[in-house]
Amino acid sequence: MDSAVTSNVAQIDRWQKNRQKLFKAIPEEGKLIRYLDKQFLVYPNTFWPFTDSQPLVENFRIKRGDSVLDVGTGSGVIAVFACYRGAGKVLALDVNPAALKSAAHNAAAHGFADTMTVRQSDLFEAVGDERFDVITANLPFRNKEAPDVVARSQWDTDFRTNTRFFEQAAAHLKPGGRIYFAHSNFGAMDEVRRLAKANGFSVRAMASKAADAAETKKFYAFLIRPLASRAAAA
Ligand SMILES: C[S@@+](CC[C@H](N)C(=O)[O-])C[C@H]1O[C@@H](n2cnc3c(N)ncnc32)[C@H](O)[C@@H]1O
Repeated sequence: MDSAVTSNVAQIDRWQKNRQKLFKAIPEEGKLIRYLDKQFLVYPNTFWPFTDSQPLVENFRIKRGDSVLDVGTGSGVIAVFACYRGAGKVLALDVNPAALKSAAHNAAAHGFADTMTVRQSDLFEAVGDERFDVITANLPFRNKEAPDVVARSQWDTDFRTNTRFFEQAAAHLKPGGRIYFAHSNFGAMDEVRRLAKANGFSVRAMASKAADAAETKKFYAFLIRPLASRAAAA
């Protein structure tokens, strides 16, 4: 966490707990959320699209026909934008079944049911040995115990999910592949950089956006690539 945030940890806690209550209180028929110039439906217990993913979806580069793996897809917002950018095939994963129902709905609602596949998976577990041109991820930002699957959208117990992501991602990238990764100033930015470097990746900040004037909630998109020597060995 940066210094603009450390004094506001209690406020971030309250804000995140309130959002978890909102996610749990979504009506059974779902709720439409406006995000950039589009609408996404979320069913109960789904993390809904927010500013946090916007630096990523506004700046990631997808070449026509690229294969994309979206890890922790939630409503499917990043996966759907990858389809709009011309991806040939998108596999969207989440550990939360409620999120998968939302993502499947949004894939069809945006006309990408044939391009985008939704699958339940704890990180890469259900991917097998398939490799992709691009991996996208907006994983829980904070190293904090998550008591249930909704909290798991924001908090990562012992930072295990983020740690495993960096340990395992290279095995799912094609040669020349790249990762677009979202994170926040109220998350564990230094730990993310450390994990990326420890697992043989370079890290470049691409863009940022704040959700409040005081910038206590600022979101970043990182471009993360295997260093050349590791890529050859992966
Ligand atoms: C911050 S939300 C992001 C959702 C969506 N990608 C977005 O940008 O709005 C994080 C998502 O990661 C999922 N998640 C958390 N841990 C996971 C894991 N180990 N494997 C797969 N998905 C996970 C959560 O269920 C949640 O949907």
